[in-house]
Amino acid sequence: MYDNRLGIKGNFYAGKFGIERYLYSLHRISGLGLIIYLLLHIVVTSFRLGGFDAWTRVMGTVDNPIFKFGEFLVVVAGVFHGLNGLRLILTEFGYFIGKPERQEYPYKYSTLKQRPLMYFLMILALVGIVISVYDIYLA
Ligand code: HEM
Repeated sequence: MYDNRLGIKGNFYAGKFGIERYLYSLHRISGLGLIIYLLLHIVVTSFRLGGFDAWTRVMGTVDNPIFKFGEFLVVVAGVFHGLNGLRLILTEFGYFIGKPERQEYPYKYSTLKQRPLMYFLMILALVGIVISVYDIYLA
């Protein structure tokens, strides 16, 4: 039986599994990051119930470069997770991975077939991230 000797380190070293293995780890991390943000967002906005003073106080607390960078990371995580999630949905439905065929040497991997889609969506994610840098830091 295959023995997973890398343990948790296997999340950060893809070895023979290629770039999609890193995208798997990033999808996990970004998904968890978005959940943490969602909880934090609910807590912060709930201060509005305490009236205008409580709201301005909490807005003053989060109005600093660290939270601004955090917001930037949320956008990065959202853009990446959404587009990579689209790739997962499409490939899980069987699109972009080719038709099943007889295994003959040299073997073809469906991973390689869906790679153009992966590059396309990751370039799109990069464009989204560059736009968010402009919007958050330069505009
Ligand atoms: C455009 C919106 C989104 C799309 C298309 C999307 C897509 C996906 C897909 C397809 C998966 C399953 C991955 C797999 O098959 O292994 C997934 C997992 C997950 N998503 Fe999303 N998602 C979106 C938004 C969100 C948001 C807003 C959150 C958090 C608030 C989130 C949190 C997670 C988490 C925690 C996982 C589990 C990751 C894991 O166990 O590896 N997602 N997402």
